[in-house]
Amino acid sequence: MRFAIKIGLCFAFALASQASSGSELRDQVLRDAALKAGLIEAEKTHVKVEPEFVAAGKLVFQSKRLSLNRETACASCHLDRFGSADGIPNAVGTQGKGQGVERLAAGGDIIPRNTLPFWGRGGVGFNVFFWDGKVNGTDGAVVSQFGPLPPSSDPLVVAAHLPPVEIGEMITDSQKNDELKTETISTAQSIYALLVGQLIGDSDIEQALTFATGKQPSQIVYLDVATALASFIRENFKVQPTKLHRFVFDGIPLTDQERRGGLVFYGKGGCSICHNGAYFTDFDFHAVPFPQAGFGKNGFGIDYGRFNETLDPDDRYKFRTPPLLNVTKTAPYSHSGSVADLGDAIRFHVDPLALYNATRFSDAQRVEYYSALKSWSREPLVGIALDNEEIDDLVAFLATLEYDSATQVEETD
Ligand code: HEC
Ligand code: HEC
Repeated sequence: MRFAIKIGLCFAFALASQASSGSELRDQVLRDAALKAGLIEAEKTHVKVEPEFVAAGKLVFQSKRLSLNRETACASCHLDRFGSADGIPNAVGTQGKGQGVERLAAGGDIIPRNTLPFWGRGGVGFNVFFWDGKVNGTDGAVVSQFGPLPPSSDPLVVAAHLPPVEIGEMITDSQKNDELKTETISTAQSIYALLVGQLIGDSDIEQALTFATGKQPSQIVYLDVATALASFIRENFKVQPTKLHRFVFDGIPLTDQERRGGLVFYGKGGCSICHNGAYFTDFDFHAVPFPQAGFGKNGFGIDYGRFNETLDPDDRYKFRTPPLLNVTKTAPYSHSGSVADLGDAIRFHVDPLALYNATRFSDAQRVEYYSALKSWSREPLVGIALDNEEIDDLVAFLATLEYDSATQVEETD
């Protein structure tokens, strides 16, 4: 009897130590894979900003004075409670009211894209902006609609020039008088001058901008405003250590499910082929056959994505790989916000027909979808099979990429 107990104990001990060395081994495999795929400590992504510009940028970001009729602020669409996006499929710009679904109901002008959040934007090496990469600083000079004379060599500062002059986003069609009739660079310059005048009409903003720039109010130009906006975005949303960072760099444990999800992410799921580096993006463009919601950037329910910038037919249906930091907070998903659930967003990558509701779309849209599938067929996703449990595990793993912003924002008049 004593002998049997002893044997039993020895056996249990052997099993336990085997289990722990097994999970230690899996932890080590996961750590190595994350490092190999480019994860770095959060602080290493930080870019130095001037606190005076950050403070001015926050005021400007929140202010509706950055739109000509004073109804839209950056903070109307980039909201804390939706992870710095807006919680709706396609953004609602001018004439929109309220937040989130209220904006849909208010019937404002629709921007045919899903609002992007700000996590890590403008950190070290983060140089490609918007779903189609229309502001791209990868090769040194910033490529954008400003052509050969970008207003700044900092792509985030260039990106912060666009929303206030984008028709439907912060300025309406009817607000253009004859002089402001077309969306050209000189039109934009006249709108910028009006907006700067409007902003410095607020004494707090005037003070913050003069303090940051050391200029007289009359000398302030939109570049100063954009620099302030970029400084605020860079600082407020900079990468902070997530649970995954603490696991990789400090040895803090993950749950079994998170670990399983991580091993699928870097292993058979192939996710890190594209979602890699410090921000979980390769800053490249790929085709994932998400269904299109809304009328699309090209109209008639079509969005050609990267093609609109390069006119290269191979770029049709390709979009910038989205960063995945805080992705659990930014539903709905994809460039047109057509997918509400995070697990479904993952499934569409590998098994699009499982979720595609063909009857929801017109004949023409289905034909487009077949072309999108053709582009997808050249991506390294085809042939990967993920079951429901693996998708749940991936969702649990993605939840380890959460962190909070430094401060909260709210719209001001
Ligand atoms: C009407 C809603 C709306 C407003 C207002 C708005 N944005 Fe956005 N923002 C969007 C949408 C939609 C996108 C994605 C557009 C695209 O990629 O085509 C976006 C994308 C961005 C991006 C790119 C992020 C990335 O990952 O590349 C930046 C930067 C940005 N906005 C800054 C601002 C700033 C600064 C303001 C205020 C001046 C502002 N936005 C106002 C909806 C809005
Ligand atoms: C071939 C490159 C590639 C691979 C591999 C890949 N993705 Fe993506 N992923 C993308 C692109 C591109 C998009 C955006 C496409 C769009 O919106 O049209 C995207 C979108 C997403 C989104 C939605 C993000 C958002 O903000 O809307 C999630 C979540 C996601 N991917 C997770 C994963 C996971 C998990 C895996 C592994 C199973 C994976 N991806 C594999 C390229 C890739």
